[in-house]
Amino acid sequence: MKSYDNVVIFDHPLIRHKIAILRDERTSMKEFRELVEEITVLMTYESLKDGVPTTEIEVKTPLEVCRQQVVSDNSIAIVPILRAGLGMVSGIHVLFPTARVGHIGMYRNEETMLPETYYCKLPEGIEDKLVLVVDPMLATGGSAVDAINLLKSRGCKNIKFMAIIGAPQGVSKVAEAHPDVNIYVSTLDRDLNENCYILPGLGDAGDRLFGTK
Ligand code: PRP
Ligand code: URA
Repeated sequence: MKSYDNVVIFDHPLIRHKIAILRDERTSMKEFRELVEEITVLMTYESLKDGVPTTEIEVKTPLEVCRQQVVSDNSIAIVPILRAGLGMVSGIHVLFPTARVGHIGMYRNEETMLPETYYCKLPEGIEDKLVLVVDPMLATGGSAVDAINLLKSRGCKNIKFMAIIGAPQGVSKVAEAHPDVNIYVSTLDRDLNENCYILPGLGDAGDRLFGTK
């Protein structure tokens, strides 16, 4: 895959370890859900190392008063792409417990492989927040491109996208469609199969998270 200024592939040994278990078809629904949350905490920590809105406050230690940077109140929104993105929300809430959550419902039409939007509810004032769009799987990239288009049409200007597993086709598609959006992917897989599933991937993330198959 070509390299893009707006794409970061983590390839961190701790995340790789967790993804190996996530991929295993024998991993239970409970363990799958817990791993998605844990990986998301690690990804969020890395993705936001230089991009969290902060405010300066005064803190009185037992010895003196000093000025300190804290995360600005109410400055982050999480937008999971339903369904599978829901599994990543709790991982971000571990770090930002008060982040508001917007939902974008999309499914891939199994014949055209194109995303269809069936739901959208976003928090008030989202246009002024740092918006973290999350979906564990970035396959063709259609869902992510459309979700980001929708957010931009609602005025969002500061958007980051996080996926656990990306296919080269999907990463390139989002990177090129939205050069102003930083894209964070934990691991880059080899390819897509004829049904646009990621190889080696982990199967259907929504089904594995929610036990629907
Ligand atoms: C999956 C996944 C992404 C999308 C990725 O959703 O969670 O949203 O496919 O594919 P793309 O990059 O080719 O658009 P799916 O359609 O399976 O819906 P679900 O989460 O409700 O199961
Ligand atoms: N959606 C999934 O859940 N898995 C894939 O491999 C591709 C899209």
